[in-house]
Amino acid sequence: MTGPLYDALYHRLEKVRWNMSDIPFDTVDKDAVSEETIEFVRVNCLMELSSLYATRMFLRDFQGNVDFCQFMSVWYFEEMRHYLILREYLKVFDAEPDFESLEDLDTDLKPSPWPNTLAMHWCGELRLGRWYLQWSKAAPERVLKQIYKYIADDEFRHAQAYEDFMERALQKDPSLMLPFANTSKWMLMNPQGDKHPTTHAEGSADGQSVTDRIDGYDDLQQWIQQSVPEEVERSLETRVLKTLSRLSGTEMKSRSDLVRLTLRLQAEAPSTPAPSSPPA
Ligand SMILES: [Fe+2]
Ligand SMILES: [Fe+2]
Repeated sequence: MTGPLYDALYHRLEKVRWNMSDIPFDTVDKDAVSEETIEFVRVNCLMELSSLYATRMFLRDFQGNVDFCQFMSVWYFEEMRHYLILREYLKVFDAEPDFESLEDLDTDLKPSPWPNTLAMHWCGELRLGRWYLQWSKAAPERVLKQIYKYIADDEFRHAQAYEDFMERALQKDPSLMLPFANTSKWMLMNPQGDKHPTTHAEGSADGQSVTDRIDGYDDLQQWIQQSVPEEVERSLETRVLKTLSRLSGTEMKSRSDLVRLTLRLQAEAPSTPAPSSPPA
């Protein structure tokens, strides 16, 4: 496949996009929703706002990749709608986050190598899609169920778009398989840690992560652990290994296979030239 991915992705995503006006906010069954669920949705809403900081990071770190930066316009639009749809739901309960306080959450993410960022977001979207599907199943109220299903479908489509960009990048430079595999391995290990692609703790320029700034995020982490069964992580692992097997041409069935692949690629990689001796 050649030509810009942006053109194809734009049409692909436009065809299946939901509209905010499709959501019957006026039919929300308020009695079915507990205070705890409202708090969950509130923190979740602020988590989705983090696509703002991520977009600034993407446009900076992917400078030179016009195709990817063009796609950011669609990704950012759709992610910010996740923030808004949850915010609209919270308005039904007069519980939406205070607009004035949003700037306190703003942060700059540290520059990092784009291949790692791309693979991290690919795995992250696959994980988020699975979380949202679980939350859709578990939601106590019909409209919230629908909202979570819409968001889940979006996250899966974003993952597919990132996968397309990874595949395209590998066609140009096969050595990128190493950072893609390494980052995917890191994403699959220790799933309890903060692995939301846009809030990752180590990425903040001032050392304070996005999630540190969100009041109540620790509770959300606990709810995630309670509401997302073990098999969700297993299905993520299967999916990631299947794609990486295809992209690398190496059949992998387990995380150990992935570790072996990274070791092999590392050994095959031309060693970084030794730094020249400092002037005497
Ligand atoms: Fe999202
Ligand atoms: Fe997404």
